[in-house]
Amino acid sequence: MPAEDVLVIGLGYVGLPLAVQAARSGFRVTGYDTRAEIVDGLMAGRSHVDDVTDAEVAGMLGRGFRATADEAQAGTQDVIVICVPTPLSVADGPDLSAVRAATQTAGRLLRLGTLVSLESTTYPGTTEEVVRPLLEKASGLTAGIGFSLAFSPERIDPGNPDYGFRNTPKIVGGVTPSCADAAASFYERICDQVVRAKSAREAEMAKLLENTYRHVNIALVNEMAIFCRELDVDLWDAIRCAATKPFGFQPFYPGPGVGGHCIPIDPNYLSYKVRTLGYPFRFVELAQEINGRMPGYVTERAADLLNRNAQPVNGARVLLLGVTYKRDIADQRESPARPIARKLRSRGAAVAYHDPYVPEWQVDGQTVPRADDLEAAVAAADLVILLQPHQAYDLTQLGRTARLMLDTRGVTPDAPHVEAL
Ligand SMILES: NC(=O)c1ccc[n+]([C@@H]2O[C@H](COP(=O)([O-])OP(=O)(O)OC[C@H]3O[C@@H](n4cnc5c(N)ncnc54)[C@H](O)[C@@H]3O)[C@@H](O)[C@H]2O)c1
Repeated sequence: MPAEDVLVIGLGYVGLPLAVQAARSGFRVTGYDTRAEIVDGLMAGRSHVDDVTDAEVAGMLGRGFRATADEAQAGTQDVIVICVPTPLSVADGPDLSAVRAATQTAGRLLRLGTLVSLESTTYPGTTEEVVRPLLEKASGLTAGIGFSLAFSPERIDPGNPDYGFRNTPKIVGGVTPSCADAAASFYERICDQVVRAKSAREAEMAKLLENTYRHVNIALVNEMAIFCRELDVDLWDAIRCAATKPFGFQPFYPGPGVGGHCIPIDPNYLSYKVRTLGYPFRFVELAQEINGRMPGYVTERAADLLNRNAQPVNGARVLLLGVTYKRDIADQRESPARPIARKLRSRGAAVAYHDPYVPEWQVDGQTVPRADDLEAAVAAADLVILLQPHQAYDLTQLGRTARLMLDTRGVTPDAPHVEAL
């Protein structure tokens, strides 16, 4: 009999779109999240995630979805999907405390025949070495016999209009072949294409390979951006030319630093695991170092620009445009805008920001003034720094109005007072 009841543990950027898709595909979906405000919001029809609209939450509620912060209300389930955060610990290593807590919950709720799928990004071996023993201990059942256990990495790209949950191929890796079968038959019902990994370890590794690939390539162009300027080479133009090669090249672009929950964090999970072997993962650590320096480089470039206008940073009115980590979404996690604001403020600049997606913004507990009238704020600023080219911005107009502008994304049309990173 096919699985019918699905429990999603963790209703964030990953769990909520999954819940929407599962409800749409005919499953009875329950969501469990430890944060009562998220549960209350969803039950009142409010989405807190960029890619899910209030109408979609309402549709899901209409199909019987319910969210709860009370484990006892989560019920027994055919499928349990774990989508909780995997942040870094104080020592920059993996912090699996949410995964462990969610696994304990799953262990208490699973019954004979349940499929448990972990979607949180983590280092290879987590599903087998961390999740499996906890589930077996809590349930008294054995993976592959009493219940199924798989890893299936989430590939959500927030704000991407072309690829969503349904049409992005889904990798699944089981801890045994029968676990892989169970996971594949679940995911085949909610997405178009399922890709089977040899085991959970390869599925875990595939996700980290994808993120590390981006991280390293972004670091490559960031490092190039710094020396190309000194060599008087327009790197943006060089990338444009290279990108015309129909094979063997994928363009990556420089920027103010990497942000979000994935690129700055996930590769650390891999370098942590490699270090347990007694040696470092040098590519990742180098990329970390280069990308981590970009906010400081942006601040230096800002100071140089002001200096050319005979202005000190101290007292300069600097307007940051777009403070989210990615364009056209509201997510601010790990956004490089934060260290840039911090560095500029510590040098005495009067920093303000504009972002259509961010009504209030604090850095180190201090509110950064928000510019409500974009055009007036751009005209009044001594320096405008474009960090995120949200679609709402008229770049040509910004370039014309700004007295001085640093474009960290290389997207503003040429104008006398605009300089690209
Ligand atoms: N956001 C993305 O685009 C994305 C993409 C790919 C992978 N991932 C990975 O997916 C995982 C989840 O990320 P996210 O962005 O959805 O995080 P998130 O912070 O948006 O959501 C996680 C939710 O889990 C809840 N939670 C925490 N501990 C819990 C527990 N013990 N029981 C129940 N709920 C709990 C939190 O309250 C939160 O609402 C992470 O490992 C992340 O790296 C995220």
